[in-house]
Amino acid sequence: MTVQPITSQPPHNSIETPTPSDFKPWRGLIETYRPYLPVTEETPVITLLEGNTPLIPVPYISQQIGRGVKVLVKYDGLNPTGSFKDRGMTMAISKAKEDGAKAVICASTGNTSAAAAAYARRAGMRAFVIIPDGYVALGKLAQALLYGAEVIAIEGNFDEALTVVRKMAENYPVTLVNSVNPYRLEGQKTAAFEIIDVLGNSPDWLCIPVGNAGNISAYWMGFCQYHSVGKCDKLPKMMGFQAAGAAPFIDGKPISNPQTLATAIRIGNPAGWDKAWAAKEASLGQFNAVTDEEILEAYRLLAAHEGIFCEPASAASVAGLLKVKEQVPSEATVVCVLTGNGLKDPDCAIKHSNNQVKSGIKPEISKIAEVMGF
Ligand code: F0G
Repeated sequence: MTVQPITSQPPHNSIETPTPSDFKPWRGLIETYRPYLPVTEETPVITLLEGNTPLIPVPYISQQIGRGVKVLVKYDGLNPTGSFKDRGMTMAISKAKEDGAKAVICASTGNTSAAAAAYARRAGMRAFVIIPDGYVALGKLAQALLYGAEVIAIEGNFDEALTVVRKMAENYPVTLVNSVNPYRLEGQKTAAFEIIDVLGNSPDWLCIPVGNAGNISAYWMGFCQYHSVGKCDKLPKMMGFQAAGAAPFIDGKPISNPQTLATAIRIGNPAGWDKAWAAKEASLGQFNAVTDEEILEAYRLLAAHEGIFCEPASAASVAGLLKVKEQVPSEATVVCVLTGNGLKDPDCAIKHSNNQVKSGIKPEISKIAEVMGF
């Protein structure tokens, strides 16, 4: 029997369809931004082709602000392990491999552990992750386990976990891959490059959730570096947002018992304190706090009005923007960073959605039509 190919209408002559040579495959952020990164020909590039995440316009949110303000989200939840941490981890793990490391360690509220596990295992290394027991979202835990990390849950919070792993890395043959590892920020700064590559310039504001305060500094580094080589002619105001129950930058001092449902940023004593403040000061930006209710409001709004499902911590950037919207200059371009994918924390989505499954319905047209309101 001969196989008959399925044929469809050939494209109309006047329509140009792409050919394989039109596609330039994305090579991951190290290859793409190699001249801006501390790598050499000898560096083994450990990559899952991270980066190149979409910068998506969010018209409903723009409309909420009005006055010609244009808001876009940098949806970094579309990275290979579902968060921006992949940007930092491709660099940190590649450099650890170059240095001959056999194992890495990190403290994590979940996303760092997922990324560390994926990249370390791909590089043939052991990955030890220390997490606060009971405060890591389900999806993140599932990832770390399946990637093959050695997961150790401590009776303590992220800040205590970070203190422990710093000492472990000093005393044992394990490389620390938290954002105190400078290669992490080098990788993460590429998100700023991508924004400028798309917009042709820096946005006027960058709104970003702040936890351990690494990412805000990484973005600032990226904007400044591109500015210094003439890729943009302005720099954004860095607007950092913390959860109200975990807002040491607003309190002006570390917090010993941070609390928020946005577990990713449940951090009381950010390791990146000084650099983040320097970025805020240099950019004439601000730090503000958003309540869990404001975070949830933005989380639901992004999903139900824009079709974008991010995790609660990520929604802090949009919650923050809406909170201070009166301050946004008219006609400004604002980018909100959505750091992680909503699928990371399905429990939160189900618990805090205003929507419900209509269950117990018989499989009959009339019954279903009735439920549908017809
Ligand atoms: N958003 C998400 C989804 C995060 O996972 C984190 C940090 C942040 C924002 C804050 O970024 O720490 O650079 O200020 N997560 C770390 C972790 C702490 O362990 O996954 P930051």
